[in-house]
Amino acid sequence: MTDASVLLSVSRLSVEFHNAQRTVTAVKDLSFEIFPGEVLCVVGESGSGKSVMSRAVMGLVDPPGIVTSEGISLRGESINSLSERQLSKQVRGSRIGMVFQDPMTSLNPSFPAGEQISEGLRLHKGLGRKAAHERSVELLALCGIPEPGRRALQFPHQMSGGMRQRVLIAAAVACEPDLIIADEPTTALDVTIQLQVLKLLDAVTRQQGRGLLLITHDLGVVSAMADRVLVMRRGQMVEYGRADQVLRAPRQPYTRALINAASDLRTAPRGQLAELAGDQYCKVEQ
Ligand SMILES: Nc1ncnc2c1ncn2[C@@H]1O[C@H](COP(=O)(O)OP(=O)(O)OP(=O)(O)O)[C@@H](O)[C@H]1O
Ligand SMILES: [Mg+2]
Repeated sequence: MTDASVLLSVSRLSVEFHNAQRTVTAVKDLSFEIFPGEVLCVVGESGSGKSVMSRAVMGLVDPPGIVTSEGISLRGESINSLSERQLSKQVRGSRIGMVFQDPMTSLNPSFPAGEQISEGLRLHKGLGRKAAHERSVELLALCGIPEPGRRALQFPHQMSGGMRQRVLIAAAVACEPDLIIADEPTTALDVTIQLQVLKLLDAVTRQQGRGLLLITHDLGVVSAMADRVLVMRRGQMVEYGRADQVLRAPRQPYTRALINAASDLRTAPRGQLAELAGDQYCKVEQ
Protein backbone atom coordinates (compact mmCIF):
# COMPACT_ATOMS: atom_id res chain seq x y z
CA MET A 1 0.00 0.00 0.00
CA THR A 2 2.97 2.34 -0.11
CA ASP A 3 3.61 2.11 -3.83
CA ALA A 4 3.88 5.69 -5.12
CA SER A 5 3.86 4.53 -8.76
CA VAL A 6 0.14 3.93 -8.27
CA LEU A 7 -1.94 7.10 -8.05
CA LEU A 8 -4.91 5.69 -6.16
CA SER A 9 -4.98 2.28 -4.60
CA VAL A 10 -8.16 0.92 -3.03
CA SER A 11 -8.01 -2.38 -1.26
CA ARG A 12 -11.02 -4.42 -0.13
CA LEU A 13 -13.37 -1.48 0.35
CA SER A 14 -16.79 -2.24 1.79
CA VAL A 15 -19.66 0.03 2.80
CA GLU A 16 -22.68 -1.09 4.79
CA PHE A 17 -25.75 0.85 5.84
CA HIS A 18 -27.43 -0.45 8.96
CA ASN A 19 -30.88 0.53 9.97
CA ALA A 20 -33.46 -0.98 12.29
CA GLN A 21 -34.88 -3.34 9.66
CA ARG A 22 -31.93 -4.46 7.62
CA THR A 23 -28.37 -4.04 6.46
CA VAL A 24 -27.62 -2.86 2.93
CA THR A 25 -24.19 -3.76 1.63
CA ALA A 26 -23.67 -0.98 -0.91
CA VAL A 27 -20.04 -1.81 -1.68
CA LYS A 28 -18.42 -5.17 -1.07
CA ASP A 29 -14.74 -6.05 -1.07
CA LEU A 30 -13.82 -3.74 -3.90
CA SER A 31 -10.17 -3.36 -4.92
CA PHE A 32 -8.80 -1.35 -7.81
CA GLU A 33 -6.02 1.01 -8.78
CA ILE A 34 -5.68 4.16 -10.85
CA PHE A 35 -2.31 4.77 -12.45
CA PRO A 36 -0.74 8.19 -13.05
CA GLY A 37 -2.06 9.89 -16.17
CA GLU A 38 -4.98 7.47 -16.48
CA VAL A 39 -8.76 7.64 -16.57
CA LEU A 40 -10.72 4.92 -14.82
CA CYS A 41 -14.37 4.76 -15.82
CA VAL A 42 -16.78 3.11 -13.42
CA VAL A 43 -19.96 1.70 -14.92
CA GLY A 44 -22.88 -0.34 -13.61
CA GLU A 45 -26.63 -0.12 -13.43
CA SER A 46 -28.42 2.26 -11.08
CA GLY A 47 -27.93 1.27 -7.44
CA SER A 48 -24.79 -0.75 -8.08
CA GLY A 49 -22.81 1.31 -5.56
CA LYS A 50 -20.82 3.65 -7.79
CA SER A 51 -21.60 6.87 -5.92
CA VAL A 52 -21.25 5.28 -2.48
CA MET A 53 -17.88 3.82 -3.51
CA SER A 54 -16.58 7.17 -4.72
CA ARG A 55 -17.75 8.96 -1.59
CA ALA A 56 -16.12 6.28 0.56
CA VAL A 57 -12.77 6.90 -1.17
CA MET A 58 -12.97 10.53 -0.03
CA GLY A 59 -14.20 9.70 3.46
CA LEU A 60 -17.61 11.18 2.74
CA VAL A 61 -19.98 8.41 3.78
CA ASP A 62 -22.22 9.68 6.55
CA PRO A 63 -23.62 7.54 9.37
CA PRO A 64 -25.32 5.08 9.42
CA GLY A 65 -22.87 4.09 6.70
CA ILE A 66 -19.93 2.01 7.89
CA VAL A 67 -16.81 1.96 5.73
CA THR A 68 -14.13 -0.69 6.07
CA SER A 69 -11.06 -1.29 3.95
CA GLU A 70 -7.61 -2.80 4.01
CA GLY A 71 -6.33 0.53 2.78
CA ILE A 72 -6.87 3.50 0.49
CA SER A 73 -3.79 5.36 -0.61
CA LEU A 74 -3.05 8.34 -2.79
CA ARG A 75 0.44 8.41 -4.32
CA GLY A 76 1.49 5.82 -1.77
CA GLU A 77 0.18 7.73 1.24
CA SER A 78 -2.54 6.15 3.27
CA ILE A 79 -5.66 8.35 3.42
CA ASN A 80 -8.17 5.94 4.95
CA SER A 81 -6.93 6.51 8.48
CA LEU A 82 -6.89 10.31 8.32
CA SER A 83 -9.25 12.24 10.57
CA GLU A 84 -12.14 14.22 9.11
CA ARG A 85 -10.18 17.41 9.83
CA GLN A 86 -7.09 16.15 7.98
CA LEU A 87 -9.19 14.95 5.05
CA SER A 88 -10.99 18.26 4.66
CA LYS A 89 -7.80 20.33 5.11
CA GLN A 90 -5.26 18.25 3.22
CA VAL A 91 -7.06 15.99 0.78
CA ARG A 92 -10.52 17.02 -0.40
CA GLY A 93 -10.50 19.99 -2.74
CA SER A 94 -6.71 20.11 -2.87
CA ARG A 95 -5.43 16.61 -3.67
CA ILE A 96 -8.75 15.12 -4.69
CA GLY A 97 -11.13 17.31 -6.69
CA MET A 98 -14.77 16.29 -6.66
CA VAL A 99 -17.72 16.68 -8.97
CA PHE A 100 -20.84 15.21 -7.46
CA GLN A 101 -23.90 13.83 -9.17
CA ASP A 102 -26.19 16.58 -7.89
CA PRO A 103 -24.89 20.09 -8.65
CA MET A 104 -27.53 21.87 -6.57
CA THR A 105 -26.62 20.31 -3.25
CA SER A 106 -22.88 20.59 -3.82
CA LEU A 107 -22.76 24.34 -4.40
CA ASN A 108 -23.22 26.77 -1.55
CA PRO A 109 -26.38 28.81 -2.30
CA SER A 110 -25.08 31.85 -0.40
CA PHE A 111 -21.95 32.54 -2.43
CA PRO A 112 -21.44 33.69 -6.02
CA ALA A 113 -20.11 31.03 -8.38
CA GLY A 114 -16.74 32.70 -8.86
CA GLU A 115 -16.12 32.81 -5.13
CA GLN A 116 -16.76 29.09 -4.80
CA ILE A 117 -13.93 28.50 -7.25
CA SER A 118 -11.54 31.14 -5.94
CA GLU A 119 -11.99 29.97 -2.34
CA GLY A 120 -9.99 26.80 -3.10
CA LEU A 121 -7.36 28.72 -5.02
CA ARG A 122 -6.81 31.06 -2.09
CA LEU A 123 -6.87 28.31 0.50
CA HIS A 124 -4.81 25.65 -1.24
CA LYS A 125 -2.76 27.57 -3.80
CA GLY A 126 -2.14 30.74 -1.81
CA LEU A 127 -3.43 33.05 -4.53
CA GLY A 128 -4.49 36.58 -3.61
CA ARG A 129 -8.12 37.67 -3.97
CA LYS A 130 -7.64 39.34 -7.37
CA ALA A 131 -5.53 36.58 -8.94
CA ALA A 132 -7.93 33.92 -7.65
CA HIS A 133 -10.90 35.77 -9.12
CA GLU A 134 -9.18 36.15 -12.49
CA ARG A 135 -8.27 32.47 -12.56
CA SER A 136 -11.89 31.57 -11.66
CA VAL A 137 -13.18 33.55 -14.62
CA GLU A 138 -10.62 31.82 -16.85
CA LEU A 139 -11.73 28.40 -15.59
CA LEU A 140 -15.40 29.24 -16.18
CA ALA A 141 -14.49 30.15 -19.76
CA LEU A 142 -12.58 26.87 -20.14
CA CYS A 143 -15.71 25.03 -19.02
CA GLY A 144 -17.68 26.67 -21.83
CA ILE A 145 -19.50 29.30 -19.83
CA PRO A 146 -20.34 32.37 -21.92
CA GLU A 147 -19.75 35.76 -20.33
CA PRO A 148 -17.67 34.19 -17.57
CA GLY A 149 -16.95 37.54 -15.91
CA ARG A 150 -20.66 38.19 -15.37
CA ARG A 151 -21.44 34.59 -14.45
CA ALA A 152 -18.71 34.55 -11.80
CA LEU A 153 -20.74 37.10 -9.84
CA GLN A 154 -24.01 35.17 -10.01
CA PHE A 155 -25.42 32.92 -7.32
CA PRO A 156 -26.22 29.25 -8.00
CA HIS A 157 -30.00 29.87 -8.06
CA GLN A 158 -29.49 32.30 -10.95
CA MET A 159 -28.00 29.54 -13.07
CA SER A 160 -29.36 26.57 -14.99
CA GLY A 161 -28.48 23.02 -13.95
CA GLY A 162 -25.94 22.70 -16.76
CA MET A 163 -24.33 25.98 -15.79
CA ARG A 164 -24.06 24.92 -12.15
CA GLN A 165 -22.51 21.63 -13.18
CA ARG A 166 -19.81 23.50 -15.11
CA VAL A 167 -19.11 25.70 -12.08
CA LEU A 168 -18.55 22.54 -10.05
CA ILE A 169 -16.20 21.17 -12.66
CA ALA A 170 -14.27 24.45 -12.75
CA ALA A 171 -14.00 24.29 -8.94
CA ALA A 172 -12.82 20.68 -9.05
CA VAL A 173 -10.02 21.30 -11.54
CA ALA A 174 -9.02 24.70 -10.09
CA CYS A 175 -6.40 23.43 -7.67
CA GLU A 176 -5.01 20.90 -10.13
CA PRO A 177 -5.58 17.99 -7.76
CA ASP A 178 -3.78 14.65 -8.08
CA LEU A 179 -7.10 12.92 -8.62
CA ILE A 180 -10.50 14.08 -9.80
CA ILE A 181 -13.53 12.04 -8.85
CA ALA A 182 -16.44 12.91 -11.10
CA ASP A 183 -19.83 11.28 -10.65
CA GLU A 184 -21.90 11.62 -13.84
CA PRO A 185 -20.38 15.07 -14.41
CA THR A 186 -21.91 15.72 -17.79
CA THR A 187 -25.34 14.12 -17.59
CA ALA A 188 -27.10 17.49 -17.34
CA LEU A 189 -25.14 19.09 -20.17
CA ASP A 190 -25.91 19.25 -23.85
CA VAL A 191 -23.66 17.34 -26.20
CA THR A 192 -21.31 20.13 -27.31
CA ILE A 193 -20.72 21.37 -23.77
CA GLN A 194 -20.35 17.75 -22.65
CA LEU A 195 -17.49 17.32 -25.09
CA GLN A 196 -15.83 20.52 -24.00
CA VAL A 197 -16.02 19.59 -20.33
CA LEU A 198 -14.79 16.05 -20.94
CA LYS A 199 -11.86 17.39 -22.93
CA LEU A 200 -11.00 19.69 -20.05
CA LEU A 201 -11.18 16.81 -17.55
CA ASP A 202 -9.11 14.66 -19.87
CA ALA A 203 -6.46 17.36 -20.34
CA VAL A 204 -6.18 18.04 -16.62
CA THR A 205 -5.83 14.34 -15.93
CA ARG A 206 -3.08 13.60 -18.39
CA GLN A 207 -0.87 16.38 -17.10
CA GLN A 208 1.79 15.53 -14.57
CA GLY A 209 0.55 12.07 -13.83
CA ARG A 210 -2.81 13.04 -12.43
CA GLY A 211 -5.83 10.76 -12.62
CA LEU A 212 -9.58 10.72 -13.12
CA LEU A 213 -12.18 8.41 -11.63
CA LEU A 214 -15.17 8.97 -13.88
CA ILE A 215 -18.55 7.46 -13.13
CA THR A 216 -20.75 7.42 -16.20
CA HIS A 217 -23.69 5.68 -17.78
CA ASP A 218 -22.51 6.69 -21.20
CA LEU A 219 -20.51 3.95 -22.90
CA GLY A 220 -19.61 6.42 -25.67
CA VAL A 221 -17.83 8.47 -23.01
CA VAL A 222 -16.20 5.30 -21.67
CA SER A 223 -14.84 4.32 -25.04
CA ALA A 224 -13.62 7.86 -25.70
CA MET A 225 -12.02 8.50 -22.31
CA ALA A 226 -11.21 5.36 -20.36
CA ASP A 227 -7.84 3.69 -20.01
CA ARG A 228 -9.37 1.20 -17.60
CA VAL A 229 -12.93 0.23 -16.82
CA LEU A 230 -14.43 -1.06 -13.59
CA VAL A 231 -17.81 -2.72 -13.94
CA MET A 232 -19.88 -2.88 -10.76
CA ARG A 233 -22.99 -4.79 -9.85
CA ARG A 234 -24.62 -4.91 -6.44
CA GLY A 235 -21.58 -3.28 -4.88
CA GLN A 236 -19.15 -5.81 -6.26
CA MET A 237 -16.64 -5.86 -9.03
CA VAL A 238 -17.83 -7.77 -12.06
CA GLU A 239 -14.96 -6.91 -14.34
CA TYR A 240 -11.93 -4.66 -14.24
CA GLY A 241 -9.37 -4.19 -16.93
CA ARG A 242 -8.03 -2.20 -19.81
CA ALA A 243 -10.81 -0.34 -21.61
CA ASP A 244 -10.21 -1.86 -25.04
CA GLN A 245 -10.29 -5.34 -23.57
CA VAL A 246 -13.40 -4.78 -21.42
CA LEU A 247 -15.32 -3.03 -24.21
CA ARG A 248 -14.29 -5.24 -27.12
CA ALA A 249 -13.95 -8.59 -25.44
CA PRO A 250 -15.81 -8.47 -22.13
CA ARG A 251 -15.26 -11.60 -20.06
CA GLN A 252 -18.49 -11.46 -18.09
CA PRO A 253 -22.01 -11.82 -19.48
CA TYR A 254 -23.09 -8.93 -17.27
CA THR A 255 -20.62 -6.62 -18.98
CA ARG A 256 -21.83 -7.83 -22.37
CA ALA A 257 -25.43 -7.10 -21.35
CA LEU A 258 -24.37 -3.69 -20.11
CA ILE A 259 -22.75 -2.90 -23.42
CA ASN A 260 -25.69 -4.23 -25.42
CA ALA A 261 -28.16 -2.25 -23.33
CA ALA A 262 -26.03 0.89 -23.44
CA SER A 263 -28.63 2.99 -25.18
CA ASP A 264 -31.20 2.22 -22.48
CA LEU A 265 -28.91 2.56 -19.50
CA ARG A 266 -30.17 5.85 -18.22
CA THR A 267 -33.73 4.67 -18.01
CA ALA A 268 -33.16 0.99 -17.23
CA PRO A 269 -34.86 0.12 -13.95
CA ARG A 270 -32.76 -1.64 -11.40
CA GLY A 271 -32.34 -5.33 -12.18
CA GLN A 272 -33.30 -5.04 -15.82
CA LEU A 273 -29.73 -5.54 -16.95
CA ALA A 274 -29.47 -8.60 -14.81
CA GLU A 275 -32.49 -9.99 -16.62
CA LEU A 276 -30.94 -9.13 -19.95
CA ALA A 277 -27.80 -10.96 -18.95
CA GLY A 278 -29.79 -14.13 -18.39
CA ASP A 279 -28.78 -16.85 -15.98
CA GLN A 280 -25.13 -17.03 -16.88
CA TYR A 281 -24.03 -14.04 -14.85
CA CYS A 282 -24.75 -15.95 -11.63
CA LYS A 283 -20.99 -16.15 -11.08
CA VAL A 284 -21.11 -12.69 -9.57
CA GLU A 285 -24.19 -13.37 -7.42
CA GLN A 286 -23.59 -12.47 -3.75
N1 LIG B 1 -27.65 6.61 3.17
C1 LIG B 1 -27.99 5.41 2.71
N2 LIG B 1 -28.68 4.54 3.48
C2 LIG B 1 -29.04 3.31 3.04
N3 LIG B 1 -28.74 2.84 1.83
C3 LIG B 1 -28.05 3.65 1.00
C4 LIG B 1 -27.65 4.98 1.39
N4 LIG B 1 -26.98 5.53 0.35
C5 LIG B 1 -26.97 4.61 -0.63
N5 LIG B 1 -27.61 3.50 -0.24
C6 LIG B 1 -27.80 2.28 -1.05
O1 LIG B 1 -26.55 1.90 -1.58
C7 LIG B 1 -26.74 1.32 -2.86
C8 LIG B 1 -25.81 1.94 -3.87
O2 LIG B 1 -26.22 3.26 -4.13
P1 LIG B 1 -25.43 4.25 -5.09
O3 LIG B 1 -26.06 5.58 -4.93
O4 LIG B 1 -23.97 4.15 -4.82
O5 LIG B 1 -25.73 3.66 -6.54
P2 LIG B 1 -25.22 4.18 -7.95
O6 LIG B 1 -24.52 3.05 -8.60
O7 LIG B 1 -24.47 5.46 -7.77
O8 LIG B 1 -26.60 4.45 -8.72
P3 LIG B 1 -26.98 5.59 -9.81
O9 LIG B 1 -26.41 5.10 -11.11
O10 LIG B 1 -28.46 5.61 -9.82
O11 LIG B 1 -26.38 6.88 -9.38
C9 LIG B 1 -28.21 1.46 -3.20
O12 LIG B 1 -28.85 0.25 -2.94
C10 LIG B 1 -28.67 2.54 -2.27
O13 LIG B 1 -30.03 2.38 -1.96
MG1 LIG C 1 -24.79 7.39 -8.35
